Amino acid sequence: MRARLASAPLTELAARAQGSSLLDVGCGHGVLVALLAAGRRERRIVGIDPDPRKIDWARRSVGRCGNVELIACTIDALAAERPAAFDTVLVADVLYLLAARDWAPFLDAARALLRPGGRLVLKEAEDDGSWRMTKALWQERLMVHLLRRTHSSGAVGFVPRGMLVASLQRAGFAIEETVALARGYSTPHVLFTARAA
Ligand SMILES: C[S@@+](CC[C@H](N)C(=O)[O-])C[C@H]1O[C@@H](n2cnc3c(N)ncnc32)[C@H](O)[C@@H]1O
Repeated sequence: MRARLASAPLTELAARAQGSSLLDVGCGHGVLVALLAAGRRERRIVGIDPDPRKIDWARRSVGRCGNVELIACTIDALAAERPAAFDTVLVADVLYLLAARDWAPFLDAARALLRPGGRLVLKEAEDDGSWRMTKALWQERLMVHLLRRTHSSGAVGFVPRGMLVASLQRAGFAIEETVALARGYSTPHVLFTARAA
């Protein structure tokens, strides 16, 4: 978890959470959930991940906080169960694990989970053609295919920023902020803040 904190700007995501009902999609071990929950008892944070191993690990750490709920499920299942339930939906490094055809239903579900006017905070690595992108791609291939630490939902690959922007807009999000966060990291992070139009 320390390595994850050092290698990705998760504090930048946490700083952009709004409201008291928050959802972290693809929460993994729960590092971002911990950042959102620590010292913020007025918040309720739900973390979901399709990988039950990750949810199990997360439950044994941040899951002990009273304001945290961790569920092994897909975003579609949660959207059907809790439409318009969240003020902010956060997604950190998940889209690159989805096949291209699954992006639209994933983002549609993220929008359905937000109350009208709610906020999406999305972070991905972007394909900017740099050495960082090549390094990140091999690192993630190692994590998914060889070490099997990360559960893929059909892909491992990064796309140019324009494709991320187009996908968000197609799903009905109005992008409010785009921040390149590669500097100081060995991964070309890019962060979007968007509003459910
Ligand atoms: C690189 S990890 C990021 C974990 C966490 N968001 C973080 O920033 O520390 C990617 C996570 O996405 C999850 N994942 C894979 N496919 C997913 C899907 N279709 N929906 C939601 N999460 C998914 C994986 O199980 C894994 O926990």
